[in-house]
Amino acid sequence: MENIAFTEDNWAKAQEIIARYPEGRQKSALLPLLHLAQEQHGWVSPAVMDYIAEILKIQPVEVYEVATFYTMFHLEPVGKHVIEYCRTGPCCTVGGEEVYDHLKERLGIASNQTTSDGLFTLKEVECLAACGWGPCFQIKEKFFMQLDKAKVDQIIDELSK
Ligand code: FES
Repeated sequence: MENIAFTEDNWAKAQEIIARYPEGRQKSALLPLLHLAQEQHGWVSPAVMDYIAEILKIQPVEVYEVATFYTMFHLEPVGKHVIEYCRTGPCCTVGGEEVYDHLKERLGIASNQTTSDGLFTLKEVECLAACGWGPCFQIKEKFFMQLDKAKVDQIIDELSK
């Protein structure tokens, strides 16, 4: 059975986050709690979303609608490195599509797939707010910008070590 509960440390963090908001406004803690759960589990399963709804005393659908809206939340198990690749216009006009095709070929996967060694998951996302430095992708909090095929190879090589 899936262990969905927060660890003791994360439970304390969750309580601290919830306490930032006035009584009756616990729903405001939803995004940070989803981040915390994803940090602990690597992704947010329906059971984890239900658990968060219970903690915040809201309906599960209120959690689902937020978690499914933001591409930063992973709704299925993912690889060690989740590459969030920008597919929006400005990046496409500076070679983003060509670089993206190269990345898919290099990893041997399509969008929303994970490499068989579990190292990389590829996700297509909208603008990462780095339009002046495209093509770009993000892995967790780190941005990789002004990408070309050689840079992509170098990044993948380094992360594969
Ligand atoms: Fe790619 Fe904005 S269009 S970062």
